[in-house]
Order: sequence, then C-alpha cells, then structure tokens
Amino acid sequence: MKPPLTTGTVVRDAGHRRPLAGLRFRSTFPSRLPRAGGSVQPSLRAEHYGTVRAIVLKGSGGPEVMSLSEVPDPEPGHGEVLIEVDAAGLNRADLLQRQGHYPPPPGASPLLGLECSGVIAALGDGVREWAVGDRVCALLSGGGYAERVVVPATQVLPVPDALDLGAAAGLPEVAATVWSNLVMTARLRADQLVLVHGGGSGIGTHAIQVAKALGARVAVTAGSADKLARCAELGADVLINYKEDDFVAVVRAQRSSAGGIGADVILDNMGAAYLGRNVDALAEHGRLVVIGMQGGVSAELNLGVLLRKWGTVHANNVRARPATGVGSKAEIVGEVRRQLWPLVADGTVAPVIAAELPIEEAAEAHRLLDSGEVFGKVVLRVREL
Ligand SMILES: NC(=O)c1ccc[n+]([C@@H]2O[C@H](COP(=O)([O-])OP(=O)(O)OC[C@H]3O[C@@H](n4cnc5c(N)ncnc54)[C@H](OP(=O)(O)O)[C@@H]3O)[C@@H](O)[C@H]2O)c1
Repeated sequence: MKPPLTTGTVVRDAGHRRPLAGLRFRSTFPSRLPRAGGSVQPSLRAEHYGTVRAIVLKGSGGPEVMSLSEVPDPEPGHGEVLIEVDAAGLNRADLLQRQGHYPPPPGASPLLGLECSGVIAALGDGVREWAVGDRVCALLSGGGYAERVVVPATQVLPVPDALDLGAAAGLPEVAATVWSNLVMTARLRADQLVLVHGGGSGIGTHAIQVAKALGARVAVTAGSADKLARCAELGADVLINYKEDDFVAVVRAQRSSAGGIGADVILDNMGAAYLGRNVDALAEHGRLVVIGMQGGVSAELNLGVLLRKWGTVHANNVRARPATGVGSKAEIVGEVRRQLWPLVADGTVAPVIAAELPIEEAAEAHRLLDSGEVFGKVVLRVREL
C-alpha cells in the first residue's frame, strides 16, 4: 500500500498552474470576523450587502456564454451560512449546465458552481455549529462561481489547517459523490476489487485514494499511458487503457474478494455505452454504480447475466438530493465529515489539483476541463490569497 501523503499534501500539476496576476477582489471583509451569534449581523448587512461579482450565463452554449458580472449579494436564510468564496471547483456537470443540458434543481441558484471554499462571513438564524471566520468548504447545489454564496450549514465542512483554501475547493463534490456511492451505496470493503472508470478525472483521482484507504484493490480505466501512470502513483493496482484494452477481459482476469472473478464494485461514468460490459465485468454479488452518462442514457441489458451473479445496478446523483432527511446532502456530508474527513486531515486522501485559474478566466478553465488534458480537478480562484 502506498505511504500516506503528508498532512495537507496537495497533488498539483504545475504545468497547468496559471499566474493569478490581475485578479481583483473588491470585498472589504476582513479574513476573520467575530462570531455572529446565530443571526446575520445588521452591521455586516448594511456595510457589505449589495452586489458581488459572479460568472453568469448569457445563454446556452460554449465557454463564451460565460461572463463576469455583478449579481445581487446573497443573504443567508434560516439554517444557512454566507461564505466569502476563495475558490470554486469545476465539475463536468458545470459544462453540461453551461450547454443547457443540466438545469439546476428547483430552488437552487442558477449560477454555476457545485463546490467552493472560503471563510464564513455571516450566519443565518438557527446556525450554532459554525462561527464567522471559520475556514470551510461546501457542497453546493449551485452558485459557487461567485464572490459570496449561501448554503445550508449542514453542507459545510471544516478545512484542515494544513490544507490551503484553493485546494480545498476541489474536495466537497468528489468527496460527497465518492463516499456516498462507493461506501454508503456499494458498501466497498477491504480486499474487495473496485473498478473506477475515468481514473484520471476529478472523481477518479479521489476514488482511487479513498478505495486504497479502505484497503480495497483498485482497477482504473484511462485514455492514456501518462494518466494511468499517475493513477498508479495514487495507488491504483490494475491499469487499463480503455482505448487499447478490453476492460472486461482485464477485470475478469482478477480475483474478486470471494475468490471468484471480476469486480466487486464498479464506479461508472459512461452510462449506456458501458452498461452491458460493466455487468459482464461484475463478480458475483457485484455492485455497479452509475454516476455519469458520458456514453449515453439508453441501453439494453441482458438481465440474465445480472441475475446469475446476484448483481445490483444503482444510478445515483448528488445534486438533486434533498437538503435534509433520508438520503439527503446533509446525511452524506455528515458521513463524509465523520468517516472521510480524518483521512483528509492527516493527508491520506488529498485533493489532486490539475490547474488553478482566476475567475476572469472561467471560459479558459472550462475549455481546459473539456480538453481531457487535465489529471484531477480544475479550480477557479475567486479571491487572491
Ligand atoms: N452522479 C453524481 O452525483 C456525480 C457527481 C460528480 C460527477 N459525476 C460524474 O462523474 C464523472 C466524472 O466527473 P468529473 O467532474 O470528475 O469529470 P472529468 O474530470 O471531466 O473527467 C471525465 C473523465 O471521463 C473519462 N472518460 C472519457 N471517455 C471514457 C471512456 N470511454 N471510458 C472511461 N473513461 C472515459 C476521461 O478519461 P481520459 O481523460 O483518461 O480519457 C476523464 O477522466 C462525470 O461523468 C460526471 O458527470 C456524477
């Protein structure tokens, strides 16, 4: 097993690091503010609320439809906190939303951005567990590409001291998605074999580390030798170039935890294109969890194959989950904080940051993620540190 990364280690791709010169941030918030005591401080509201800069969509289409504009400053409601955003993580879902294929769920901010990091600037009524000035990151339903965002307090996570806020912006969405699917849904355990499709993606780079920390064996697919080599550095045991190798044959050459063949768990980003082959690659009692539909939404499945293996197919989405209750974002973030966050705090699981670009270059950041050239996450710097 790979040695744990040192505390607060951030795996970065220096080749894509962009200078932050020219990034302007107009906020006058101090970095630390006194505790607000459970409600929004009137002085803060009067002094600072007005407008904030955010990336808005002028329509649906390519990266050029994004522009940096002024939008109304959000105010935290009951049970919410206001975050002064340092950085926002990019996700493939942002590209789909920009193209008009992934509308925000009802009630969510229309702005892009499913995760952010920053400092708590104000507390809504009823919030007791956070204080103004806390360094945090948060799972959002939208609105992260902005200088300030409001979010239910139950979707906020503390940023360990050793981790910089920019890197922390790339954690909440992958942490919630990977933990809820690999652990809460698929019940991945030590010695089981998990196949992670797209090992070099934001999701994949996190899933490899989480699975290794659980003691599982990890097979990954990726589209290049370079990405596979980097997956191996993160701990992946079985490397499959999906452009050259038949992943079903490679995975079926592996032993499952029960001594059979195939993968105990598959984390899938391709949907329809891989459905039949994923089921072929499952071991007895295997669990396929579909989280992406990059290969389409509609496919035929031979249920006989699934039935003979006592297999299960799940399809899950984090963004559309309710804020509270059974199966909610609050439940997932609570489990992430309780079980995964100690591994983040001690550096066993670290953000893998491919590139950081200033918010002014959001269009370029989208092009970069879409290019497939990045390994790990792309992050937008909203505020210069
Ligand atoms: N359901 C949810 O709640 C949820 C939440 C977050 C993300 N997701 C999904 O998870 C997936 C990853 O998200 P992300 O933001 O981390 O995306 P990303 O960084 O943009 O990565 C996309 C990945 O797809 C891989 N890929 C492309 N064609 C492939 C193929 N034929 N076989 C295997 N892999 C292939 C790419 O691999 P190469 O670059 O090596 O070609 C790349 O690693 C996306 O499908 C996204 O929609 C779902």
